[in-house]
Amino acid sequence: MSEPLIEVQGLYKLFGNEPKKHMHLVHEGLSKDEILAKTGHTLGLKDINLKIQKGEISVIMGLSGSGKSTLIRHFNRLIDPTEGQILVDGTDVVNLNQAELEQFRRHKMSMVFQRFGLLPHRTVLDNAAFGLSVQGVRKKEAHERAVEWLETVGLGGYENQYPSQLSGGQQQRVGLARALATNAEILLMDEAFSALDPLIRSEMQDQLVELQEKLHKTIIFITHDLDEALRLGSTIAILKDGELVQDDKPEEILLNPATEYVEAFVRDVNRARALNVETVMQPQTFRITSETIAGALKQMRAHKDDYAFHVTDDGYQGTLTQEGLEEAYEENATGKLTEEHYDDVTQIAPDAALEEILPETISADHPVPVVNEEGELQGELSRDALAEILSPESSDNMSATEQVDAKEPTDKKSAEPA
Ligand SMILES: Nc1ncnc2c1ncn2[C@@H]1O[C@H](COP(=O)(O)OP(=O)(O)OP(=O)(O)O)[C@@H](O)[C@H]1O
Ligand SMILES: [Mg+2]
Repeated sequence: MSEPLIEVQGLYKLFGNEPKKHMHLVHEGLSKDEILAKTGHTLGLKDINLKIQKGEISVIMGLSGSGKSTLIRHFNRLIDPTEGQILVDGTDVVNLNQAELEQFRRHKMSMVFQRFGLLPHRTVLDNAAFGLSVQGVRKKEAHERAVEWLETVGLGGYENQYPSQLSGGQQQRVGLARALATNAEILLMDEAFSALDPLIRSEMQDQLVELQEKLHKTIIFITHDLDEALRLGSTIAILKDGELVQDDKPEEILLNPATEYVEAFVRDVNRARALNVETVMQPQTFRITSETIAGALKQMRAHKDDYAFHVTDDGYQGTLTQEGLEEAYEENATGKLTEEHYDDVTQIAPDAALEEILPETISADHPVPVVNEEGELQGELSRDALAEILSPESSDNMSATEQVDAKEPTDKKSAEPA
């Protein structure tokens, strides 16, 4: 289980000459516009409380001017707060002295910029090694490490080129290699992929996810783009006018937007692509464990539905229907359950996107079993639940978790087989 690596508490930022003097207006609840009109000060952030988990990609989203850059620049103290605390790994960064702060910036965090931020007159290799040079690593070692990271991001062979000889995507890979080479635990990525064209951008997203699976960095990723946020984020924090309006898992943002502002963001999202089976399935399923036809029928009759999943010590075996079991029982009242008794072989994977499993789930007579790679039954997904999630009105309805809680696990309609 992960733990918060960065913790922001009661953070306020008022930009202007005398921010402290006017903070009382912020606390009195005046709006950003009112404060600007009255004092000429801009409210950058208001009462931000946020935990960033270690080893995850945390996305920060919001319209232009909502405070995203201001927030993450507090993390490495490029900006000082007007009020509040920023704890990084338990250290209050506001209390660091100049020397400590320099150490902290060089070793703890590195930044990837929107416009790549490369030095034009230095080679790709020198650019990638730049953060290491700043850390005081000897040139030979810095170059060796930079070569490795360039290799990792797919730029092996480009070491002696200059930034202008590279495409946008390649330049951004140099920026990424430079940030990764410093071995900093935390990567701050402010609109890092926004300047790239869609195809390259999507490649970079894939690469970041792939790297993250290996490296387990803590990545704070700012974006305007919800699709990008959904693709990358373990959590998504949404800012509006300097306030945090929602900080949630992506599926909760999609299914339960906290405010109209968030809803406007998520309205046009292709849910079938953005959500996977696991986030919308019903985890409770009725399992038949008996190995005999009579035993299975007895379990089935005691259950409210007319289908169930046969599960043994070896995991999920197949779907049984009451009708099928009644017939099998009539033919052979003392027989064992075998493959021929299973109604259907359809099964879906928990990590599949909804769009991948749409046809087989919509056409199935019963909810389809969700089975993981180990062959274990994880839950079920019904045609109705799927249709509900994919219908445009469903954000007004209950969340996936609430739906699960509302569904009764069993029913007492018990009867013995004849
Ligand atoms: N140095 C500054 N002085 C005065 N106001 C500032 C300063 N930096 C930011 N602001 C104001 O703070 C608010 C938040 O700005 P910020 O740059 O954090 O927004 P953002 O969400 O990163 O926007 P974008 O998506 O356009 O990058 C804005 O209203 C901006 O005008
Ligand atoms: Mg910004």
